[in-house]
Amino acid sequence: MRSKTLALAAVGAGVALVLSACGANEAPAPGAGGSSSGVAAPSGGTKVGVILPETATSARWEGFDKPMIIEAMKAQGLDADVQNAQGDTATFTRLADSMITQGVKVLVIASINSELGKTVAAKAANAGIPVIDYDRLNLGGSSKYYVSFDNSKVGELQGQAMVTALKDKAGAQVIEIEGAPTDNNATLFYQGQQKALKPAYDSGALKLVRSQPIDNWDNQKGGQAFEQILTQNGGKVDGVVAANDGLAGAVITVLNKNGLKVPVTGQDATAAGLQAVLRGEQYMTVFKPIKQEAEATAKLAAALAKGDTAAADAIATQTEKDPKGNRDVKSVLLTPQTITKANVKDVITAGYVKASEVCTPELKAACTEAGIS
Ligand code: BGC
Repeated sequence: MRSKTLALAAVGAGVALVLSACGANEAPAPGAGGSSSGVAAPSGGTKVGVILPETATSARWEGFDKPMIIEAMKAQGLDADVQNAQGDTATFTRLADSMITQGVKVLVIASINSELGKTVAAKAANAGIPVIDYDRLNLGGSSKYYVSFDNSKVGELQGQAMVTALKDKAGAQVIEIEGAPTDNNATLFYQGQQKALKPAYDSGALKLVRSQPIDNWDNQKGGQAFEQILTQNGGKVDGVVAANDGLAGAVITVLNKNGLKVPVTGQDATAAGLQAVLRGEQYMTVFKPIKQEAEATAKLAAALAKGDTAAADAIATQTEKDPKGNRDVKSVLLTPQTITKANVKDVITAGYVKASEVCTPELKAACTEAGIS
């Protein structure tokens, strides 16, 4: 009952207010968007369990996904219990076990890694509960449905942006700070980036210094790895492909410390990322309209909760390859958008981040210039 009240309060207060409670990669204020510890007691509507992976790897999970999923599920007459495993696999397992025991009608998982997701999906299937892989596909898993973005396209946008940013600097040196090797998305982002970057590396237009995957998307480790590579390269870098805004922020801290300013990519269109773009420290970010991801997931969940697989299949009309399981997973794959200084406004207009969160006194002039008021 208590968590239902909190969830309703969050929905009533509007997503923007919930988002305003979140800084760069910080957890939101207590009470923002529902309960955060333990699994809520069952209440009224059809119960759907949702487990998000982390808080610290990106501000998106608590800032965008959680409130948007709660709202989208509610619109479908579903009662979503949205929990976050905080990057801890044991917590993820405990939350999943508890939701399965409670008899949720559908389980939605954005897993910390594929192995964990695969194990959880198998347990749920055993209990007759359909599973949706949310945002991250669990390789070798059994989930029948997947909702995400075209993640190869996300990487392509990042790679293209770097090629554009460095087009007048022949032989420019690029360092790549990539996501977790255990997250299939990180692999897809990398593959997409290389579509744009490899021809430039091959022709000598750009020079790759090093590509470094970062375990668990750990932002701090990303900054440390970048610093080490930069030092080993004699302090020389002309551009950094960072896989998301969190890693980009850590890279920018190191660049600033060394008095360097070079194009840096990002992803997630977080408030901190948008501020870095306006400040001219981050060249671009990728906006993924998570509201669409939440809505597609809620519609799928509503169909699956009724056992209506024909309706579910009519929603998930695309497919994503699971190379490990050697199967095509029925999917909804949404379209990402490049954000540079010129269109930061789009993210604010779409209601993801409030102008007041981005346009701090320091950035008032940049905001005016970018048409944000
Ligand atoms: C998500 C990104 C996010 C990253 C780290 C990926 O799976 O698609 O949006 O930045 O995980 O949390």
